[in-house]
Amino acid sequence: MDFVKDVRSVAVVGFGLMGRDISRLLAERGFYVTAVDVSEEVLKKSMEVLVKGPYGIEKAVERGKLTKEQADQILARIRTTTSLEEAAKEADLVIEAVVEDLGIKQEVFRKLDKACRPGVVLATNTSGLSITAIASATQRPQLVLGWHFFNPAHIQPLVEIVKGLETSDEVVEFSRSFLMEKLRKVPIVVKEGPGFASTRLGLLLGLEAIRVVEEGIATPLDVDLAMMLGYRHALGPFETGDLVGLDLRLKAIEQIYEQTKDPKWAPPRLLKQLVAAGYMGDPRIKPGSKGGFYEYFGQKKASEFLKELREKGYKV
Ligand SMILES: NC(=O)c1ccc[n+]([C@@H]2O[C@H](COP(=O)([O-])OP(=O)(O)OC[C@H]3O[C@@H](n4cnc5c(N)ncnc54)[C@H](O)[C@@H]3O)[C@@H](O)[C@H]2O)c1
Repeated sequence: MDFVKDVRSVAVVGFGLMGRDISRLLAERGFYVTAVDVSEEVLKKSMEVLVKGPYGIEKAVERGKLTKEQADQILARIRTTTSLEEAAKEADLVIEAVVEDLGIKQEVFRKLDKACRPGVVLATNTSGLSITAIASATQRPQLVLGWHFFNPAHIQPLVEIVKGLETSDEVVEFSRSFLMEKLRKVPIVVKEGPGFASTRLGLLLGLEAIRVVEEGIATPLDVDLAMMLGYRHALGPFETGDLVGLDLRLKAIEQIYEQTKDPKWAPPRLLKQLVAAGYMGDPRIKPGSKGGFYEYFGQKKASEFLKELREKGYKV
């Protein structure tokens, strides 16, 4: 099948948390990026985080991870625009990272399909929506698939490639080699299904963890220590959930519950209550949030608890 394999410029649609880091990753790897978002204000704010944020390019220079010259070259490769059409018409590849809403994604894909050259692959960073439903908004469903990056996208090595019903095997193979060879990522290939493989497993652990706490069996700190020390997870489900955002977690669980009607996906009452009360997650990530599980339960985070033990000589 004929499609564009020679990629130099990439359009990244949605310049929020994920789109910003995906743009940075691409620019660091030598690609020209045009990032699109809904307003100049959003683009400007997001660019400021990319350059001056706590994990931004300037900090990377200060820490000696990039030279000033490299940083300047990376930034020179990222352009921003509010015009999806302008970004799409020059793109050899599109990565979409707008909000997790099927209607909005379909509208974006409808416009992309019209504005992009024939043969351009359209990848979506959705965490769990149907690739087939997103692709149905286009006339090129064979060229639409999921590239599910993990946060932070320029650092996390995993990318879950997700096949829709009509995604071409050649496009999956192109994606695998592009992600491995050009972006130095480790892809896995899965078929679509609510939450794919990674989101489904991660969310279910989070759900069960909340139920353990709701039943009064253990506290968030105990649960996280169990998974970190007992199963060698880098972070426990509560600290992870607080970092991702409780509102996003709740939305993701509700979406899978809607799709499956399986009671195991019924959103836990405690999670709904916390979100309703303004506990949206870790305030360092979610400005204005009252906190996450840890703040509500008034506990020290498991990662800090273990750090203190390490300082005392414990091998943890
Ligand atoms: N946050 C995570 O940890 C994570 C991890 C993996 C995948 N994802 C997925 O990545 C996608 C983006 O998530 P995020 O966390 O970056 O969200 P975000 O809210 O930080 O960013 C989304 C951006 O999309 C923009 N947007 C909305 N409608 C648009 C449109 N029509 N055209 C252009 N831009 C538009 C918004 O203004 C916003 O800047 C979602 O599908 C999400 O499920 C998120």
